[in-house]
Amino acid sequence: MWERKDFLDVDSLSKEDIEMILDYSEVLETHSGRGSKLDICRGEILVTAFFEPSTRTEKSFEAAMYVLGGDVLLHHEAGSSRDKGESKLDTLRTLEQYSDIIAIREPEAGMMQRYADELDIPVINAGDGHNQHPTQAILDLFTIKKEIGCLDDLKVIFFGDLKYGRTVHSLIKALRLFGRNQFFGVAPRGLELPQSFAGNDYEEIDMEDVIKIKPDFIYATRIQKERMSLDDRDKYSYEINAAFLCKLPKHTKIMHPLPRVNEINIEVDKDPRFIPFKQVRNGLHTRMALIALLLNHEDELQKISK
Ligand code: CP
Repeated sequence: MWERKDFLDVDSLSKEDIEMILDYSEVLETHSGRGSKLDICRGEILVTAFFEPSTRTEKSFEAAMYVLGGDVLLHHEAGSSRDKGESKLDTLRTLEQYSDIIAIREPEAGMMQRYADELDIPVINAGDGHNQHPTQAILDLFTIKKEIGCLDDLKVIFFGDLKYGRTVHSLIKALRLFGRNQFFGVAPRGLELPQSFAGNDYEEIDMEDVIKIKPDFIYATRIQKERMSLDDRDKYSYEINAAFLCKLPKHTKIMHPLPRVNEINIEVDKDPRFIPFKQVRNGLHTRMALIALLLNHEDELQKISK
């Protein structure tokens, strides 16, 4: 049974919580083809308050609530009373008066607990600065499970900006809840995975070692320039291209949370091992499951599971 009010980070989740979300995501996927609409959240409103840019996370939360039969309010900073000096907290307290659940994206790491403490409605962390992106981790796990049928005994290489890449931080923590997974990192000097996310199961390697490892997944991220000083922004570059892909085993899949800038060459896109847009699609069903659970609709989910 789901008993959490909020969805703030991976640390507070158990393996059973994750398995429950993934199981209901699978059920919802079979009940929500294009154009179909469910009745699970009829009369309820999701509000999105994104204080940082987003395409996938914001749009998939909107789409998820629409398909669940609910409604959506979007808060956009431009044109809001934030321009008159209103605080974020007062803005959120105001949005709470019109809605049943809120998804927040926030540039400052670690603010979500504060918001969850202040608001009575369920709070979903839709990305907090360089810290975590737990709903992305859920859709990444769903994607991995759909691709190879399990979440154990995997070799995963994280590639790119591992210092600021919050999707990597959440995914490595989530995969640690499953068995015997091994993690490797390929990052430019200065963008390595912070110690707080690395562990005994994690090893830093060079680009040329990737082929020897025969990974199941390479999880690439862009350089998070917005989190760097102006001087550092043009310091780093790396790329996965067709020549590199040719050297990889046939079973190695390339994941990326998107947006991509130039770290995966578009010549790779036609290769069936390139799966970021499958991740995007999976974000719809995992966020549907999450919204339904946080709004206490487990009975309805069980009903359609039969
Ligand atoms: N993956 C992800 O968080 O994408 P957006 O920034 O577009 O939401």
